[in-house]
Amino acid sequence: MSISQATYNRAKQIMPGGVQLLSKRPEMFAPEQWPNYAVKGKGCKLWDMDGKSYYDMTTNGIGACLLGYADPDVSKAAIKRIKNGCMTSLNAPEEVQLADKLLEIHPWAESVRFARTGGETCAIAVRIARATTGRDVIAICGYHGWADWYLACNLSEGDALDGIHLAGLQPAGVPSGLRGSAVTFHYNNVEEFDALIAQYGDRLAGVIMEPLRSTMPNEGFLEHVRDEVHRVGGLLIYDEISIGWRFTFGGSHKVLGVQPDIATFAKAMGNGHPIGAIVGTKAAMDGAQQSFISSTYWTEAVGPAAALATIDKMEKTRVWEHAAAMGDIALKDWAEAAERHGVNVHIDGVSCLPHLGFTDFPLETKTLYTALMLKEGFLAQGGFYPTLAHNEKIMAKHREANDKVFAKIAETIKKGGKEAVIEAIGGPVCQSGFQRLNG
Ligand SMILES: Cc1ncc(COP(=O)(O)O)c(C=O)c1O
Repeated sequence: MSISQATYNRAKQIMPGGVQLLSKRPEMFAPEQWPNYAVKGKGCKLWDMDGKSYYDMTTNGIGACLLGYADPDVSKAAIKRIKNGCMTSLNAPEEVQLADKLLEIHPWAESVRFARTGGETCAIAVRIARATTGRDVIAICGYHGWADWYLACNLSEGDALDGIHLAGLQPAGVPSGLRGSAVTFHYNNVEEFDALIAQYGDRLAGVIMEPLRSTMPNEGFLEHVRDEVHRVGGLLIYDEISIGWRFTFGGSHKVLGVQPDIATFAKAMGNGHPIGAIVGTKAAMDGAQQSFISSTYWTEAVGPAAALATIDKMEKTRVWEHAAAMGDIALKDWAEAAERHGVNVHIDGVSCLPHLGFTDFPLETKTLYTALMLKEGFLAQGGFYPTLAHNEKIMAKHREANDKVFAKIAETIKKGGKEAVIEAIGGPVCQSGFQRLNG
């Protein structure tokens, strides 16, 4: 057994779920074959515990490392601050510089607060919206973290998050008193949204949504949501945690042309160093003064120091343009390989977040794709978050690997359909969504 598998087996004995983030569970990829742990990451390459290395054609740090792993300029800024002491009894001046920078990039905003994780920034934004408006109900359209306020939407309807984020998320442990405090609508579904406005309008603190994820908004959708939530006296919060910085410099709303009252950022803003920001108009952020929102490690200095270096480099390199170019190559290569070998796929997403899925026996074929790509030296499962470290040479190697792997998938399906695919995997089939793993 590999060292990484033995380590993961131990992890499952002593940690519920085995990992700290659902998207890093090996069961989501090719169980018992996935390398599980990285001892080093550099650029878009990873080294596992067993001495093997892979190019990362998956999320590149769950979207956190848009400049690539261990970017030298970001690491330099972080190390400098660590050497100078990153936690003291006083505040970090870098947080004021970072707030000024975020306001310069988002001129509609006047006020900034910081946290460290994406889920925290969303919880803070929602708390502020509730404090500012004096209302309770929040309408949700996207993924916004693990916290009670969010999972509360599954208290009223069993699976309100199905099709919005993941199906099957149980609100176990979320107080039943929160029932009715969070409601959901699907992206681009005006009728569903209007029904929420009609039902909850005068109780609505606001809408929190991803302005864009994998589909472009229908014409007028974002404007309609903004106008209606404002008409009933609520606030519009854009969660830019995954799409921000990679679609354009700063929030995607700058290109989409609709201004929120509050926007949240995390992930790519620190290129692997924890930092999150809540950016808003003075009026929308007013509730932050009345509410207790405070945490020790929101004051450490590495996060803002790394974010200043990251933002500077993202701007200089115009990384969002590079990410889109690399994503377009992946989209083209997947489509051509599928066509050439006659594999049924669905290819979607935007250039900076392209996605490949398999139509025949989706989970089984996806697992086989991952298992075969591992043998070619790639982490790959369909969802690709391109980075500055991906280049045409690496994409050419990826193209060659896909050609081989699609040929093998086609041959396997032709030989014996689903059964042959399962056999060819050489291990268990991947899971989708949340499932209890142990105990
Ligand atoms: C849009 C969005 N919001 C919030 C989060 C939660 O961020 P974190 O995992 O840092 O808590 C994520 C994470 O994937 C996300 O994609």
